[in-house]
Formats: sequence, structure tokens, C-alpha cells
Amino acid sequence: MRRMTPSTRPRRLIEQFLFPAPRIKAAELKACLQGKTILVTGASYGIGEALARRLAACGTHLLLVARSGDKLRALKTELAQTDNRIDIFATDLTDMVQVDALLNSIRRQHQGIDVFVSNAGKSIRRPLFDSLQRFHDFERTMQLNYYAPVRLSLALIPLLLTRGGQIVNVSAANVRLAPAPFWAAYQASKCAFDQWLRCAAPELAARGVACSSAYLPLVRTRMIEPTEAYRDAPAMSAEQAAALLCKLMLTRKPGCSPWWLGPGQWASLLMGGVWSRLAERHLRRTRHG
Ligand SMILES: NC(=O)c1ccc[n+]([C@@H]2O[C@H](COP(=O)([O-])OP(=O)(O)OC[C@H]3O[C@@H](n4cnc5c(N)ncnc54)[C@H](OP(=O)(O)O)[C@@H]3O)[C@@H](O)[C@H]2O)c1
Repeated sequence: MRRMTPSTRPRRLIEQFLFPAPRIKAAELKACLQGKTILVTGASYGIGEALARRLAACGTHLLLVARSGDKLRALKTELAQTDNRIDIFATDLTDMVQVDALLNSIRRQHQGIDVFVSNAGKSIRRPLFDSLQRFHDFERTMQLNYYAPVRLSLALIPLLLTRGGQIVNVSAANVRLAPAPFWAAYQASKCAFDQWLRCAAPELAARGVACSSAYLPLVRTRMIEPTEAYRDAPAMSAEQAAALLCKLMLTRKPGCSPWWLGPGQWASLLMGGVWSRLAERHLRRTRHG
């Protein structure tokens, strides 16, 4: 465990206030999930890896998907126990030929899936005026954050129907707040799948499949490393985010979010104009103006 230095202590206290740890009884989680077949995308690093660790301890049958086959193999070796089963699939989810091969192999081996966790994601933070020659940024985020989960959901729905299953979407708190400059590619793609799932949810619920979204704040993973501004910002741990996803599997609630997201949404609604003007004024003072 990392020791708290005087400089990290205030940040830790703020994190405990902003992101209180969810309470989950390990025995209750195991009783709920043992023997269940759970597909997790983006399981090689960050939140997906932390979730795989937690689920493996519950005696689940895991289908782990990511590009890094070596990382998945190492995880499988490390987590293998007598009461769990782990199948790994080294797949680039932006390549539809690979996605089709993944789906064919899942369909051949499985009659049903209990939970599909759509977690794999790509983040880009880039000013619009640095993006004028970078249409591919928008294509890549949409391919991974929108088209891939839609393609997987459509194909997996028949398997989820046989088990009264659940789709768990790893979403972001920002999709519920006023839009932020520099985040057009990432936020638009995350909003797209969030909205898709919210539209699909009543139709799926009517057939016994639950849809849940975790609206996560900043989480300290590889994803936020390139953003200098986030280095010392308060963030949730990957393990805590994984615990929230487990809680969604336990409760099958439509969503979970930090306690401050509700008030934040109201503030975004009521003060959206003020926020835009403040952002504009700030940008005018910088090289982006
Ligand atoms: N970190 C945050 O602050 C934060 C906040 C809110 C929401 N989220 C969401 O949380 C989810 C997980 O993010 P994270 O923070 O855990 O990031 P991460 O540590 O970078 O992990 C991303 C995962 O996605 C996989 N992935 C990336 N591109 C892929 C592709 N083309 N095909 C298949 N798998 C791919 C990666 O594995 P490979 O590289 O091996 O393919 C990795 O396992 C994302 O959906 C993100 O939007 C993150």
C-alpha cells in the first residue's frame, strides 16, 4: 500500500468525500454471480482488469476481450482457480472482421450470457483547432466507443435473452454535464452509446434484459495519464470503479453515479449559458482564443 505523504493527504480526503466506497458484501456478490457467464471488453488494463479480478474471485465464467493477448494470457494464468473459468479473446473491437470472428466463436461455445460489460474505450482530449486535419480522431472514438458496443449488443441480445441477462455500460459522468471544450470526440462518442442504450432499455426490459450505466468520474488509469492537468486531480481508483460495476450487477439498477452528479446536472441545466461564456472567456485569454 502506498504511504500517504503530506502532499497527497488532502487529495485523499477530497477523494473519500467525492467518491465514497460502495459497500458490497463479498459473500452476497459471490452468491449472486457464481457460475454466471460474464463478458468484459477492455479487460487487459484499468477498470476492466480490476473488474476481471473481482469477478474471478466470485467463481464466474469470464470472457475477457482486449487487443493485448499477452496481457490477457498473464491475467488468465494469475486468476485461474478451481471454481472459475476464464476464456480470453485478443480482438481489436474497431475491426469488424475481428469482431465477427469473436462473435462466431462466442456463439459456437455458449447458449447464453448473463452479463455483457461494455467497458473498452478510447479517450481523446484535443482542442478543435488542433483537430482540423484529424477527422480520424472522430472516426476512431466512434468506432470503439459507439459502433463496437452497438455491434456487440445487437449480436449478444439473443444470448442475453436466454438468461434474463444484463448490459452494463461503463459511461462517463461528463455525458450528464454541460459539454466541455477539447472533449468533442470523446464526449460525443460516449453520449452516443449512452443514448442508444437508454433508448433500447425499455424494449429490452420488456423481454427481461436489464440495462445499467455507471456514470464514472475521473478514474486513475492509463487513460488519464497523458493529461497533465489530471495528474494531481481527485480521482477514483480502478478497484472502486469495478466495485460500482459489481454493485450494478447485484442490484440491476438502471444506473449509478457519484452523489454530486445529480446537483451537477441541475447546475448544467440552469447555468449552461454561464458555463459556456466562462469557458469562452477563459479560452480567449489563452493560445486557444
Ligand atoms: N479513466 C477515466 O477517468 C474514465 C472515466 C469515465 C469513464 N471511463 C471509461 O472507462 C472505460 C475503461 O477505461 P479505463 O480508464 O480503464 O482505460 P484503460 O486503462 O486505457 O483501458 C482501456 C481498455 O480498453 C481496451 N481497448 C482499447 N482499445 C481497444 C480496441 N480497439 N479493441 C479492444 N479493446 C480495446 C484496452 O486494452 P488493449 O489496449 O489491450 O486493447 C484496455 O483494456 C472506458 O470506456 C472509459 O471511457 C474512464
